Amino acid sequence: MLVAAFNDLGMVESLIREHKDELAGVIVEPFQRLLPPQPGFLQGLRKVTQEHGIPLIFDEVVTGFRFAYGGAQEYYGVTPDLCTLGKIVGGGYALAAIAGRADIMAHFDRLAMADEDYLFQVGTLSGNPVASVAGLATLEVLRQPGAYEQVFATGRELMSSLDGLLKNAGIKARVIGEPPLFDVIFTDQPVKDYRDTLKGDKAIAGRFNKLLRERGIMKGESKYYVSLAHTRADIDHTIGAWKDAIAELKKG
Ligand SMILES: Cc1ncc(COP(=O)(O)O)c(C=O)c1O
Repeated sequence: MLVAAFNDLGMVESLIREHKDELAGVIVEPFQRLLPPQPGFLQGLRKVTQEHGIPLIFDEVVTGFRFAYGGAQEYYGVTPDLCTLGKIVGGGYALAAIAGRADIMAHFDRLAMADEDYLFQVGTLSGNPVASVAGLATLEVLRQPGAYEQVFATGRELMSSLDGLLKNAGIKARVIGEPPLFDVIFTDQPVKDYRDTLKGDKAIAGRFNKLLRERGIMKGESKYYVSLAHTRADIDHTIGAWKDAIAELKKG
C-alpha cells in the first residue's frame, strides 16, 4: 500500500506511474475528512488512473447522499469506477454498500456463481431488511424537491456566520469544508491536506467545543454535520452559542 498526500496531484501521478503494474486500485475520499479537493485534483486522478487502466475508488461513506443525491462524485463532477457507501444509505442503521461500473460489479452476481471470476461477498448484516427499509425511507426524503437546497442553505449560513464571528473577534481561524460538513481549524495558514490540519491549535479547538457543549451544542472533536432536521431555532441557537463561546475564548 502506497500513501500519497491529498491534493498533491504531482505526487500521486508519479507514484502511480512508477508502480502502475503493481496497483490493484487507487482509493481516495473525494472530500478528505474536512478538506475539499482542489480544482483539478480529482479530475487528474481520474485521468491518470484511466490512462493506466487502474480502478479509481471513491470512499463515499460520509459524502454519499450528503453532498448531492449522487454524492461527492456528482457534486465535484468526477465519476470513479467504484465507490463505498455507508451512514446515510442505511438511514442511521448498520448498512453499507458498494456501487460501481457494471463490469466490475458483475463479479458479485450470484447468478454467475459458477464462473471462475465470481467473488463471494457476504456479511452478517448484508442487506439487513430493517436497515434497508430505513435507508430507502431516508433516500425518499432526500429525493424531495428542495432537500439539498435546504441543507446547503443551512450550511452556508452557519459557515459564514462562524467565519464572520471569528474574524470580528480577531481569532486566527479557518472555517473549512462544504456547507453540509464543515469545521473550524484554529490557524491563519491555508489548509489543503492532512498535515496542514495538524497546524491548528488543538487546545483552543478543545476549549471552543467544550464551551459549545456547555451551551447545548453537541460538538465532538471534529466536524459539524448539517441535517434536514435542523430548524431555524437550531440555527439561531448555534449562532448564539458561537457568539457567546467566542467572547469567552477572547477573554483567554
Ligand atoms: C470516510 C470513511 N470511510 C469509511 C469509514 C468506516 O467504514 P467501516 O466502518 O465500514 O470500515 C468511515 C467511518 O466513519 C469513514 O468516515
